[in-house]
Amino acid sequence: MREASRLRLVVGVSGGIAAYKAVGAIRAFVLDGHDVQVVATQAAYEFVGKSTLEAISHNPVYDALYDEVSQVRHVALGQNADAVVIAPATAHTLAGIAAGLAPDLLGNTVLARRGPLIVAPAMHTEMWQNAATVHNVAVLRKRGVIVVDPAAGALTGSDVGVGRMAEVHSIVSATYAAVGRSERDLDGVRVLITGGGTREQLDPVRFIGNSSSGRQAVALAEAARVRGASVHFISGHMDIEPPSGMEVTFAGTAAAMQSSVVDRLDETDVLIMAAAVADYRPAVVSERKLKKTTLGQNPSIELVENPDILAMAARHPRCLVIGFAAETAEDDVELLALARHKASSKGAAAIVANRVSVDRGIGTADNDVIIVSGDGRELGRSSGEKLSVAQSILDVVVELRS
Ligand code: CTP
Repeated sequence: MREASRLRLVVGVSGGIAAYKAVGAIRAFVLDGHDVQVVATQAAYEFVGKSTLEAISHNPVYDALYDEVSQVRHVALGQNADAVVIAPATAHTLAGIAAGLAPDLLGNTVLARRGPLIVAPAMHTEMWQNAATVHNVAVLRKRGVIVVDPAAGALTGSDVGVGRMAEVHSIVSATYAAVGRSERDLDGVRVLITGGGTREQLDPVRFIGNSSSGRQAVALAEAARVRGASVHFISGHMDIEPPSGMEVTFAGTAAAMQSSVVDRLDETDVLIMAAAVADYRPAVVSERKLKKTTLGQNPSIELVENPDILAMAARHPRCLVIGFAAETAEDDVELLALARHKASSKGAAAIVANRVSVDRGIGTADNDVIIVSGDGRELGRSSGEKLSVAQSILDVVVELRS
């Protein structure tokens, strides 16, 4: 995967309050070992200091078109970059790029670049929804620019709405996915991905849940989208924000997740069941909070089985269905055997198996998986950050579809 090697990234920072969040994205790229060259607009300095950007990026920050002209910096930065990422991208910056304007170093860098361009817009809702901005964003998307959609939430003032810059992890994922995969080998493929954990309510305040963070599923969704898929994400309970740039449906219980999946199965080409679905739920959900005084000394909970969504979906005549298996196996040999068994018992086209323990595999940033086919063949192994593992899983999806 490309992201394992050192990338040359240009991070453009334009003038919006979200410029302080750009610092987080720059830091994430640097911590991942990449070379980050920050290009700031003059307006950016109203929100974040040059010294901060230099300290975090470990590089000088460039902003002037006519400094060191002999080094032809106005084109060199863009030409040499593996990707240009603009975070935040203001309405003004987006308009300039859509029109092909180059009034400053950032505009020149964008025009001279050879690699992908990723923009993370941030602005007030009215500006985001203004016909001019809507048009500019559509023009950029049509040209292949990757737009990491803003999220809904609290804006600078007391107002709330769409316009907040996407979270750092979404911007970073979109960048790595764009660099690792500029070819769109999932173009037009309809992918449904479940992620996070379900919670099966016991009473109004307690539930049976699990520690799935949703990170692997979000990485899969973002990577699939960048590879051209049209992705619908069904979110259980997650530790992180859902992926951006796609439809997201919340389904907090196994039953809700089952109906969300069933509703979409006929319009789905590939289903990836990355969610940690509870196998059982309490037989009775108490309407009132359970009390120690009534439960007695050694209470037990009666459970009933939940529907197996994966096994049910795997019977669909047309949809390619991929499942996950988190196993507390002793070693890879046992993991492989368990994965083979699960692949055949569930009827899935492939199972992505990983070894888990209290501090491994679930809720962590990295993963280590073996992928086996429904008939027990080993299709691949992958380890590293979850985005890199996501790319390997999607490679298998592409292979199985062909
Ligand atoms: N899964 C599902 N519906 C369920 C339980 C699990 O669709 N009710 C899916 C998960 O999303 C995952 C796969 O099945 O893709 C593996 O889940 P797991 O719980 O590990 O499998 P089980 O068949 O429940 O086996 P085990 O006895 O190991 O729990």
